[in-house]
Amino acid sequence: MTTPLRLGIAGLGTVGVGVVKIIRQKANLLAARTGRPIVITAVSARSRDKDRGVNLADYAWEDDPVDLAKRDDIDVFVELMGGHEGPAKDATEAAIAAGKDVITANKALLAIHGQALAEAAEAKGCVIRFEAAVAGGIPVVKSLTEGLAGNDITRVMGVMNGTCNYILTRMQDAGLPYDEVFAEADALGYLEADPNLDVGGIDAGHKLSLLSSIAFGTKVAFDGVELEGIQRISIEDINQAADLGYRIKLLGVAQLTGRGLEQRMTPCLVPADSPLGQLTGGTNMVVLEGDAVEQIVLRGPGAGEGPTASAVMGDVCDVARGLRISTFGVPVGALESTQPAQSNSPAPFYLRMALLDRPGALAKVATVLGEFGISIDRMRQGQHDGSEAPVLIVTHKTQRSALNEAIAAMSSTGVLASDPVALRIENV
Ligand code: HSE
Repeated sequence: MTTPLRLGIAGLGTVGVGVVKIIRQKANLLAARTGRPIVITAVSARSRDKDRGVNLADYAWEDDPVDLAKRDDIDVFVELMGGHEGPAKDATEAAIAAGKDVITANKALLAIHGQALAEAAEAKGCVIRFEAAVAGGIPVVKSLTEGLAGNDITRVMGVMNGTCNYILTRMQDAGLPYDEVFAEADALGYLEADPNLDVGGIDAGHKLSLLSSIAFGTKVAFDGVELEGIQRISIEDINQAADLGYRIKLLGVAQLTGRGLEQRMTPCLVPADSPLGQLTGGTNMVVLEGDAVEQIVLRGPGAGEGPTASAVMGDVCDVARGLRISTFGVPVGALESTQPAQSNSPAPFYLRMALLDRPGALAKVATVLGEFGISIDRMRQGQHDGSEAPVLIVTHKTQRSALNEAIAAMSSTGVLASDPVALRIENV
């Protein structure tokens, strides 16, 4: 008789319920694939009485996830609560202290406390697996740690927040302003409880920092991610970008360069006909580049019951099979500390501004750009709106820091009617 793998599941929201359903419905298949039964011993959630549409009567109930984490009759603590402090952190730490393996979908927890948790897990001989934390149903962690293990990873890119991609593509397709589409996304239940996690780029930044660590063997450095949300993207930007042959995406890019670790999660223009440009709705896409494989593109649902439970189950099956990979792909002591890249790689930029419509205003802007070594590739002035003239400039390659300095200098010339919008152009 083979020994079952016994799970304690904390959190019975969308993902937790999805995991329970798969384990109940596919018991034979899972046992055949892993060589042992996978069983749920106990569960924990905020409300015991809520009808979740699944039968939980076979499982012990714990009100406190910390008590669940410490139970002698579980081998794996499955953390599906979320949040980087409070019960999720306390229970994960308790599970590791009790020698349990941990499977989590919690990107915030790992982005902020991943190093300490990985150290604790390694000291106890436990594993932490987190496929569901990054890009929902896309097995990107597995791709990096296993399928691409023979590569030096050179770059990781992607769209990793489905809500932002939904908002940006809906604005484009329906010609609707940001606020209206944001309200729609809210009504559809797409937004995190704190919407800034989505539209502020934080959720996607957490995910990128985890992928960077695995890709480059570096300590998780969420603090080093250059973050910018999509809140300032207007329908005008969407339309101007489309006219230029681009789409606007909240794009993550990570690469280890001679200047340090470059990690950015910012709205960018990408070619409309590129795989990233064609990504619509809540779908995610991750592009992985390695010296041997060259480039692979993974595309799939970034959230939702089935896709996220699918990712959790991949980890459950790996643990059941006895696969024990270090949290971030190499032993925690081998993870390197890196400096954030002092200056990001140069790129062309899209610069939209409203100028006060007076003689010499445009000349002043052009002069300031020249003073900061920024060369103009294309420029056009749109229909005047009262006393303001909308101006769009596409620069030649420059560094974001130089552009920021130029924008600050423009502000002091008194010709700007509002803050310019500057977006990197990634010709991916
Ligand atoms: N809020 C996330 C997204 C889902 O929209 O992609 C899980 O991270």
